[in-house]
Amino acid sequence: MLQRLKRLFTTQPQIQTDEHGIVPDAVPNHVAIIMDGNGRWARKRGMPRIAGHRAGMNKVKEISLAADDIGVKVLTLYAFSTENWKRPIEEVEFLMRLPEEWLAKELDTLIARNCRIRIIGEPEGLPGHTLRVVREAEEKTRANTGMILNIALNYGSRREILSAVRQIAEDVQAGRLTLDEIEDTTMDQHLLTAGLPDPDLLIRTSGEVRLSNFLLWQCAYTEFWFTEVFWPDFSRDYFFQAIRAFQGRGRRFGGLK
Ligand code: FPP
Repeated sequence: MLQRLKRLFTTQPQIQTDEHGIVPDAVPNHVAIIMDGNGRWARKRGMPRIAGHRAGMNKVKEISLAADDIGVKVLTLYAFSTENWKRPIEEVEFLMRLPEEWLAKELDTLIARNCRIRIIGEPEGLPGHTLRVVREAEEKTRANTGMILNIALNYGSRREILSAVRQIAEDVQAGRLTLDEIEDTTMDQHLLTAGLPDPDLLIRTSGEVRLSNFLLWQCAYTEFWFTEVFWPDFSRDYFFQAIRAFQGRGRRFGGLK
């Protein structure tokens, strides 16, 4: 009884949330998304897989703007992995046309939003027409100071790590670095995400629960959020649901709260 009265009259500190139930001060700086389920979304509707990829592409703007609206600083999207070349040639060719199609439609909006586009992956492996448009988008948005939209194209984390290890080994061999000087930050600086914070939150759609060679080093302390929803059905509301779930987690980074 006494306890109950005490509780009634003790004012709890109020956590301010926005209209989405999100705490503005605790928005993840970096969100990474594995946009999965395009093929199954299409199959469920009796459509070809590529129709799923186009529907998936049409979701990228909605989610990018949602991220920007709540103050996410970096949004990294897994658009094509180094393993995706194993898919049928028609599907690969279609996927390689999507950046052009998407940027032709959406680049102006992103520029108006002060967003910066960056590509991570192995550019030399991309067809010329894809490389040209993504480089142009990077160039046009280079000076923008708003959200960084980081698109992973021909990206594979193990190869990224191997390349970093080789560069570090070269520095040691050339006497620019000693073994004792190699630290976490040395790796960070040699990865394709150099200069960016590690993802705070990783979202994967479509019910698959794995990393699929995405940001393996960078996700050491990332919070994961999985949903059964296929990427073309993903929406702002689901995105905000993921952010709220993130805000409910207790992050300890190996320590004690
Ligand atoms: C995985 O779904 C999705 C991809 C390999 C491609 C993702 C690409 C987009 C969403 C469009 C990218 C847009 C831009 C702007 C570059 P899946 O095909 O593996 O689906 P499934 O597991 O159901 O077969």
